[in-house]
Amino acid sequence: MPSATPILYNQIMKDLNHPRRNNEISALDLIRRRRSIRRYTSETVTAEAIRLLLEAAQAAPSALNRRPWEFVVVTDAVRRRALSAIHRWSFMCADAPVVFAVLADAGASVHWVEDTSAAAENLLLAAAGLELGAVWVAIYTQPEREELVRRLLEIPDRLRVLCLIPVGHPAESKEPRSQYDDRKVHRERYGQPWDEHPGNGRSSP
Ligand SMILES: Cc1cc2nc3c(=O)[nH]c(=O)nc-3n(C[C@H](O)[C@H](O)[C@H](O)COP(=O)(O)O)c2cc1C
Repeated sequence: MPSATPILYNQIMKDLNHPRRNNEISALDLIRRRRSIRRYTSETVTAEAIRLLLEAAQAAPSALNRRPWEFVVVTDAVRRRALSAIHRWSFMCADAPVVFAVLADAGASVHWVEDTSAAAENLLLAAAGLELGAVWVAIYTQPEREELVRRLLEIPDRLRVLCLIPVGHPAESKEPRSQYDDRKVHRERYGQPWDEHPGNGRSSP
């Protein structure tokens, strides 16, 4: 078990071992708790936690189950510092004890961006579940950023670099949120407002 204060981890394991009718509540809770965390304590992330994060990432859906993803796990401080200098919003890589580089074999699937994005999101959610802090650092779609990461981590030409994900124990806390916005939802056809309470007297379109 990871050393991260694993309240949600314990809950998830309990749910998995003893499925409850309201499992989906803890899944939603986890989704709401995931926030971009950019400040970390100096505490290391255990090998078990790293393994759980990689398992979660690789449990993602992918087109034709091609699983085009690969990962480089970076803990070396010199390499992390170099990653932190790649662009203005990659600074977190210096302080996070571990940085995941999310790679894709673009030749293996035309859906490599979606597939590896699903893996990255799974990793972010699993980090939230382990009460670790993490954030998506964009590399794709900037070729010059990709080239820098490629050189720093000695990544072969056949692989693309989607993003970096620094992970550590959070040194900042953010409120869970849903960002739910009714205006983004349409009923049956575009432009017709979604009604939270169907069957309340409105006729169907
Ligand atoms: C494709 C993508 C690229 C992102 N790139 C960066 C980045 O380079 N640096 C960063 O600090 N945050 C980055 N983020 C995180 C967003 O800024 C963050 O998700 C957004 O502000 C919403 O905040 P939240 O994650 O706390 O809900 C990225 C997120 C996505 C999905």
